[in-house]
Amino acid sequence: MTPLPAAELHLHIEGTLEPELLVALAARNGVALATTDLAELRARYRFADLQSFLDIYYASLPVLRTDQDFYDLAAAYLERAAAAGVRRAEIFFDPQTHLGYGVPLATVFAGLSGALADARARHGLSADLIVCFLRNLGAEAADETLTAALPFRDQFIGVGLDSTEVGYPPSLFKAVFARAAAEGLHRVAHAGEEGGPDYVWEALDLLGVERIDHGIRAMEDPALVQRLRADQVPLTVCPLSNVALRAVNSMAEHPLPAMLEAGLRVTLNSDDPAYFGGYLDDNVAAVGRELGLGPEQFAVLARNSFDACFAPAADKRRWKAEVDAALAGAVQH
Ligand code: ADE
Ligand code: ZN
Repeated sequence: MTPLPAAELHLHIEGTLEPELLVALAARNGVALATTDLAELRARYRFADLQSFLDIYYASLPVLRTDQDFYDLAAAYLERAAAAGVRRAEIFFDPQTHLGYGVPLATVFAGLSGALADARARHGLSADLIVCFLRNLGAEAADETLTAALPFRDQFIGVGLDSTEVGYPPSLFKAVFARAAAEGLHRVAHAGEEGGPDYVWEALDLLGVERIDHGIRAMEDPALVQRLRADQVPLTVCPLSNVALRAVNSMAEHPLPAMLEAGLRVTLNSDDPAYFGGYLDDNVAAVGRELGLGPEQFAVLARNSFDACFAPAADKRRWKAEVDAALAGAVQH
C-alpha cells in the first residue's frame, strides 16, 4: 500500500545509524568497534529503559568524523523517509555529543545541511534541523551549545531537549529556552517519556514549547489532558520507541488510541529507527496491526503532522490536500 503523506517531527539523526553504516564508517575512519558482526550488533539492541539505550547509542557515535559521514547518515535516512511517505522532516541532532568527540560544529552542519539540500532536489522532501540540548549535561552546557550554534543560525530552525529525562526537569533550562525564543527559534522538548506529567507542565509553562516530544505520561493527569486538548499542543508520539524502551509494557497497552480519543493533536514518529524496529511506515504498520487503528485515524495523524510542523503555511496546505487526494483515491478504488 502507498503510505499516506506525512511529516516526521521526532527523529534523531544519530538514531538512524544502521549497523551496516556504523561498520562502514568505523572502517573508513579507523575507529575500533567492540564487534563488526551485524547480527551481534543488532542483538545488543535490547533495552531495559531509556538510559540503557542511550549508553549504546552514544558509544557508537565516534565513527562520525567528517562532513561526508554526516552527509551519508542523513542521506540514508532521507531516502528511506521519502519511501515511507515523508514530505517534511524536522530532524534533531545532538551537537554536544559530536563536540565531545572532537568534531567541529561546522563539520556537522556542512554534512547534514548538504544532505537536506540534496533530498529536496532528489525527492522533493522538505527538511530542517533542530539543535537538541543534552539535559544530563546541564543548563550551562546547553547555553554554551546555543552560543556555539548561533553562527549557523541559518541552518537550523529550533531547539529541543533530549537525553536522560528523569532528574533533569525542564525548569533547569528556562533561561536557555528564553534565549532561544529571543533569537526567533522554535522550541520543543522531550517530556513525559519516562518523566511524569509535571515534566510536561514545566515544558509548556516554563519553556514555552510549541510541541511536546513523546508526552505519553500526560495521560495520567486529566487537567493536563484538558490543557493539551484546549491548546491543541502537538505531541510527537513514537510507539515502537516506547515499546523498545519499556515506557509501555506492550504495544497493546500503548495510550495512542486513548490520546486520539481525547482529542489530542498526536503525530506518529520513529525517534531512533535504527534501534527500535523501524521507520515511520513501520510505526504505522505496527499501530494498525496491534492497536487496530484504521484509515480514519491514520488520516487524522497525517493531517496533525502537517498542522504541527514548522513549514510555511502554503506547504502545509499543499501536503494536507495531498492527504485528502490520497484518501479520495483510496475510497474510489
Ligand atoms: N535521544 C535519542 N532518542 C531519545 C529519546 N527517545 N529520549 C531522549 N533522548 C533521546
Ligand atoms: Zn526522541
